[in-house]
Amino acid sequence: MQSSPADLVKHGAAAPGATPPSRADWTIDQGWASYSAADHATWKTLFERQTQLLPGRACDAFVQGMRALPIAADRIPDFERLSEVLMRHTGWQVVAVPGLVPDEVFFEHLANRRFPAGNFIRSPQQLDYLQEPDVFHDVFGHVPMLMNPVIADYIQAYGVGGLRAQKLGRLKELARVYWYTVEFGLVKQADGLRIYGAGIASSFTETQFALADPSPNRLGFELERVMRTRYRIDDFQESYFVLDDLDDLLALAQIDFAPAYQRAALAAELEPSEVLPSDRVVTRGTGLYHAVKREAQLQEVHA
Ligand SMILES: [Fe+2]
Repeated sequence: MQSSPADLVKHGAAAPGATPPSRADWTIDQGWASYSAADHATWKTLFERQTQLLPGRACDAFVQGMRALPIAADRIPDFERLSEVLMRHTGWQVVAVPGLVPDEVFFEHLANRRFPAGNFIRSPQQLDYLQEPDVFHDVFGHVPMLMNPVIADYIQAYGVGGLRAQKLGRLKELARVYWYTVEFGLVKQADGLRIYGAGIASSFTETQFALADPSPNRLGFELERVMRTRYRIDDFQESYFVLDDLDDLLALAQIDFAPAYQRAALAAELEPSEVLPSDRVVTRGTGLYHAVKREAQLQEVHA
């Protein structure tokens, strides 16, 4: 079990006790024909808004992956068609799930190059609110990066590592690595800092915040440091971790995490906002965004 509230919920994992669907691997039919005109219209709104924002902000691998896939504004993508293209490029498939799935089911899918994607879409009244990852987050945010061979290998290795981390009791540390790479990772390119994390790439507001706002820290990625770092599930991140190159994930996909877990577990946990003297600081954040929010919450309590 994870020990801290901030680590209890993560993209792709169900709360304990969630009701399983009839198949043991939690997959369901996407039910593409059942999407309503309103569902497709919500997708279109999200797609167009995000597509305008991402040039110059998303990394080259994301843009290339998006271009090569059958993903467009006019309709929610068909997972079978996505899988045909993905399979040819990197051997991945997209499988439909009803929402969050248990850790071991999630890891098993990833370890076998199947990406579980929510088949539902958020309501038009809640474009920026996401309780569970929906088809827009999972397909628009994650699937383009699965076209990249490095990310394809890295996420499979994460699935294999997840099954192992469960046995070692190190899921908390592993989840933080996923969070600060696959979901909220930034990467340096020759032309500037870029987004590769799906949690950012699928969010209109966080796309702008993560790259341009003076508030968050942007720190060089370091494995054990990230394993120790708590994260925000309820708001923008207070720190983002930056890769020098996407290829750095290749090495991460190949190393044995077990010694790193042990060293990380012996060191203190870190708050999401902390900056250490040993950090490679890309941008030191002002912390203003979260400080203002904390102050407002305090005033509410005392009102
Ligand atoms: Fe996600």
